[in-house]
Amino acid sequence: MLLELKNVVAGYLRGVTVLRGVNLHVNAGELVCLIGPNGAGKSTVLRTVSGLLAPSQGEILFDGQNIAGLRPDLILQRGIAQVMQGHSAFPAMTIHENLLMGAYTLKDKTERARRLAQVYDMFDLLKVRQHSKAGNLSGGQQKVLEVGRALMINPRMILFDEPSLGLDPKMARMVFDTIKRLQTETGITVLMVEQNAKSGLAISDRAYVLELGRERLEGPANQLLNDPRVAQLYLGGSIMQEGDTADELEPVEEAV
Ligand SMILES: Nc1ncnc2c1ncn2[C@@H]1O[C@H](COP(=O)(O)OP(=O)(O)OP(=O)(O)O)[C@@H](O)[C@H]1O
Ligand SMILES: [Mg+2]
Repeated sequence: MLLELKNVVAGYLRGVTVLRGVNLHVNAGELVCLIGPNGAGKSTVLRTVSGLLAPSQGEILFDGQNIAGLRPDLILQRGIAQVMQGHSAFPAMTIHENLLMGAYTLKDKTERARRLAQVYDMFDLLKVRQHSKAGNLSGGQQKVLEVGRALMINPRMILFDEPSLGLDPKMARMVFDTIKRLQTETGITVLMVEQNAKSGLAISDRAYVLELGRERLEGPANQLLNDPRVAQLYLGGSIMQEGDTADELEPVEEAV
């Protein structure tokens, strides 16, 4: 087990508990998807792992060590990178410069060059367009750049918050392919939050359904994909129907 959350309780405002005792784990090399309705606490789970929010109770074990409440930079140093929701590339800088920013803490120039070469080997798109400004990339291409930038710190694990958000179906597919390649080609462990449950589950090994700050269902992704409870309880409709394509599944707004 690379990452384990044990009874994690967290919130933003005094007296308002958002995570009410979350238990989940991600094995080394696994791609785990976290789904659930709006406001369930999915992004909050990622924030507690990356150190942006300190849990008030519980443990977050990374490689057996409790990292709960550690500063974000120290968590990054331990090998957990996060690809945020929306865009975080610097639009006025080139792809090359953006990638170097990902490794700004790394003083060893040879190592930096080695990692850069690895990223270019893996993502031809970034290599070919390395001198263009990041702002000229499409939304999906910018996500690939963000993945490349995360790889520059040589992480053991990457957290993704809704990587397909705002992308058209073709771009979303490219981003999901990129995440799957990341897992299979580099062995990096992935925890991904995804609104597009069907596409998210399709590339994942295992998944959790979060509702009202607790994990309610857990299982192999392909099992959850066909679980009527997932459709019924959390997605307001079937996520697996004959002839249905991944991109037709729209998340359902739910008041919490
Ligand atoms: N910065 C904040 N300050 C106060 N409350 C917050 C903050 N961020 C989130 N919350 C509250 O915490 C709860 C969980 O939010 P969170 O963003 O984790 O949900 P989510 O599952 O990621 O939802 P979505 O699918 O809409 O992204 C919500 O009730 C939300 O209003
Ligand atoms: Mg969220």
